[in-house]
Amino acid sequence: MKVFVTGTSRYIGGSVAVNLRAQGHEVRGLVRRRESVVSHRSAGIEPVLGALDDTELLGRLANWVDVTINAASSDHFWAAHALIESLSGTGKMLIHTSGSSIVGDDAAGMYAESTVYADDMPFQMLLNRSPRNEIDRLVRAAGIFRGMRTAVICPTMVYGQGLGEKADSDEIPKLRKKSTEVGAGVYIGEGRSIWSNVHIADLVDLYLLAVERAPSALFYFAESGELAMRDVAVAVSHSLGFGGKTQSWNVDDAVAELGLWPRIALGTNSRVRATNARGVLGWTPSRPDLAATVSANL
Ligand SMILES: NC(=O)c1ccc[n+]([C@@H]2O[C@H](COP(=O)([O-])OP(=O)(O)OC[C@H]3O[C@@H](n4cnc5c(N)ncnc54)[C@H](OP(=O)(O)O)[C@@H]3O)[C@@H](O)[C@H]2O)c1
Repeated sequence: MKVFVTGTSRYIGGSVAVNLRAQGHEVRGLVRRRESVVSHRSAGIEPVLGALDDTELLGRLANWVDVTINAASSDHFWAAHALIESLSGTGKMLIHTSGSSIVGDDAAGMYAESTVYADDMPFQMLLNRSPRNEIDRLVRAAGIFRGMRTAVICPTMVYGQGLGEKADSDEIPKLRKKSTEVGAGVYIGEGRSIWSNVHIADLVDLYLLAVERAPSALFYFAESGELAMRDVAVAVSHSLGFGGKTQSWNVDDAVAELGLWPRIALGTNSRVRATNARGVLGWTPSRPDLAATVSANL
């Protein structure tokens, strides 16, 4: 199949694109930095220079291919809108990438009591997560009413070595950086809040299954385990040679350094179950868990 992927210069999009190539699909990747052109070509991915704001280009690229995967941004409304407008009535597939902070609470690391959300369970969300959720709903609705096929994949905390240009995810490197500074694995508040997680290699398997066989308009949490953030800090500590030593990071200090991220991600509970991925697509995640992977720097 011909597949157009956004975000191919980095973690999720890059890994998805490399895996699709390995499975014999023809892949075009959107890149906004010229430096990425050569590395894309050597990975067998045809680079197209552009950005998510180039909505006319996005529409044209999507129309050239059988499947479009938007893995550059969970939050760029106009890119998602342009892809839907251009694919309407074509019967082609759009796979959009969300992120499980949409079900996050405001725990600031202080509690673990939280609903565990299966796909399609209604949830209350923090106001700042509502635009992301609106995009997910728009994409799903397009798969019912607009003569195209859609799927929304919602990764949790992704860990493990990426397959593309950028090997590292987002949350763990942020924790590693701060932990390196203080000489101990850090967690927000009391580190009690819990996040679901998924290995990048299992996640790319899920995208492949969605490309090959997803029915239209479904939502897929991508999750294969969960861990309290204090235990994530222990793993980070081992990976840095601090012997499991951990330390609390006050949420206000963390916000001063990282912006809202500790309030909407690192300090929250985000607990989900990948019911559709397993039940509908037959996804069977099998990679080592987060604690083992991060502790051993795998
Ligand atoms: N990693 C996780 O654990 C995780 C979990 C859940 C959800 N998500 C969400 O999934 C999405 C991708 O995550 P990621 O970890 O792969 O992020 P990432 O490593 O930062 O990669 C983002 C990619 O999108 C590209 N990009 C961003 N804005 C763009 C724009 N306006 N025009 C063109 N390209 C643009 C970047 O290109 P450049 O190289 O030019 O910057 C890069 O290739 C994000 O929205 C993230 O919030 C991530």
